[in-house]
Amino acid sequence: MSAGRPFGYEKDRLTVAGVDVAALADEFGTPLYVYAGDQIAERAQMLQKAFAAQEHTVCYAVKANSSLAIMKMLGGLGCGFDIVSGGELERVRRAVPEALGKVVFSGVGKQAWEMDAALKAGIMLFNVESEAELEVLAARAQALRITAKIALRVNPDVFAETHPYISTGLSEHKFGIAIARAREVYGRAAKMQGIEPAGVSVHIGSQIRSVEPFAESVKRVRALVEELRGDGMDIRLLDAGGGFGVEYGNAAFDPAARVAEYAAALLKVLDGAKVHLLLEPGRFLVAQAGALVTRVLYTKVNGKKKFVITDAGMNDLIRPSLYQAHHEIVPVVVSERETEVADIVGPVCESGDFFAHDRSMAEVRAGELVALLDAGAYGMSLASHYNSRVKPAEVLVSGGVARLVRRRETLEDLMAGEIL
Ligand code: LLP
Repeated sequence: MSAGRPFGYEKDRLTVAGVDVAALADEFGTPLYVYAGDQIAERAQMLQKAFAAQEHTVCYAVKANSSLAIMKMLGGLGCGFDIVSGGELERVRRAVPEALGKVVFSGVGKQAWEMDAALKAGIMLFNVESEAELEVLAARAQALRITAKIALRVNPDVFAETHPYISTGLSEHKFGIAIARAREVYGRAAKMQGIEPAGVSVHIGSQIRSVEPFAESVKRVRALVEELRGDGMDIRLLDAGGGFGVEYGNAAFDPAARVAEYAAALLKVLDGAKVHLLLEPGRFLVAQAGALVTRVLYTKVNGKKKFVITDAGMNDLIRPSLYQAHHEIVPVVVSERETEVADIVGPVCESGDFFAHDRSMAEVRAGELVALLDAGAYGMSLASHYNSRVKPAEVLVSGGVARLVRRRETLEDLMAGEIL
């Protein structure tokens, strides 16, 4: 198992932070998401330490994994939160109410009720993505007599090498306001009642592994901050967004070294700027801490192809289907069997329901367990009920102790909102 993952083998059995994964699957059933809480905490602290020289707040991007237990843990470490909906705001309120003042509200389609809830909660910053949104926010702020502190999410027109679905920083993308126009829009915002320009924000995409695009976009944003200050605005927050990537394959990955490189690049372009820096990491904190544990239901051969059919499907982990994402798949108990090439697929009625095509691994048989690694980010948070399947349970392992943090859904849960 490559560096950066909290999963490893003790003799022939997969463990997470010292806890036996097969025992967890037996106790809580499958499919089961298992997270190493200590690694999540360690990653957050890694970022906090690397940016210690700069006043900053790490605002965890809730969408990556919105487990209340994980949010509570990160809140306890001083993290704020990056949210994109009224639902995520409610999660912060339930898990870490004391962090509501450290919330940034991102997203291209905020609704009036969500703005109202965020205004009343006293969040730190709205990252506004269009002039039309700015007008609605001003109207809501006036109606509630609460000033909305805003940043415009600027689109820096920086290219970041990643999957097209998760790249956001080019002018052809739907996100943000072109940086060239930002000063003019800030000028309008400053005159609006109920609106206080307090920051500038940027987010160029996700799973970005080189630091240059981050540095380039922060450089452009920093220049804008200076201009706006010159225009008389009290801009004190610089939100550098999320997007810091991890390694999904088997290449070496040293998270501490990568964070040091990222921090050095950003601090260099910030060059002592008197701003409070906001970071919105999601994936980097939770991806490698999690695995989806699933049991093999059947194996079969069709023509030349061998299929391994698991009890987890694309509704539980959609990343391979949606982004052609690679996830390592490992046995929970190692066998001495021959390596074979197989497709690892789920039970959902779609050919797109697969976890891997033509994967080489030691033969696995019905009844045995495998783990899909690096599934902590955008796994459970993207899970659906497709095919009327209940969502998996979630277990958080902290300090060597495993705790169920979300029970498996029941058929009752599945149909709870429906009216016959
Ligand atoms: N901030 C904003 C404004 C975002 O849109 C995102 C992610 C983040 C922060 C956190 O990005 P991260 O640090 O996690 O890369 N479902 C896809 C990823 C979608 C990312 C959406 N925005 C996947 O599974 O790869």
